[in-house]
Amino acid sequence: MRWYAGSDHAGRALKDRLVEALRARGDEVVDRGCHDDGSVDYPDYAGAVARDVAAEDGARGLLVCGTGIGMAMAANKVSGVRAAVVTDAFTARASREHNDANVIALGERVTGPGVAEDALDAFRSATYAGGRHDRRVAKIKDLESG
Ligand code: RB5
Repeated sequence: MRWYAGSDHAGRALKDRLVEALRARGDEVVDRGCHDDGSVDYPDYAGAVARDVAAEDGARGLLVCGTGIGMAMAANKVSGVRAAVVTDAFTARASREHNDANVIALGERVTGPGVAEDALDAFRSATYAGGRHDRRVAKIKDLESG
């Protein structure tokens, strides 16, 4: 599985840890930064990762900021991206099974590193359930095209 990862300064430490965890599981990760503690703007990183994910079938995105919220708001502006703010394994799994999320967004100031890693594992291994969810996800896609 190929991932694209990004964070701002408020999410960098957790992003780095989660990138390492994914690589340890054998996944390929393209880390779009940031790479130090200097203050940056989260939409720049959300946009880069969202465009990568939208351009590649089956790719996944990992975004981390202070809350996960700004990252998800920005990423969801890119057509084809369904970014979910998750706080634990339950919400992460549901975002894949019900919403076919292709980007996971986490908040370093909200979710501790162990819980975040469990959430990432749940997101990584869960599959989209389809069925009744197809109609609803199709309606999300309809909203993209106005
Ligand atoms: C940065 O202070 C913070 O606003 C940002 O990381 C994020 O939480 C925004 O949604």
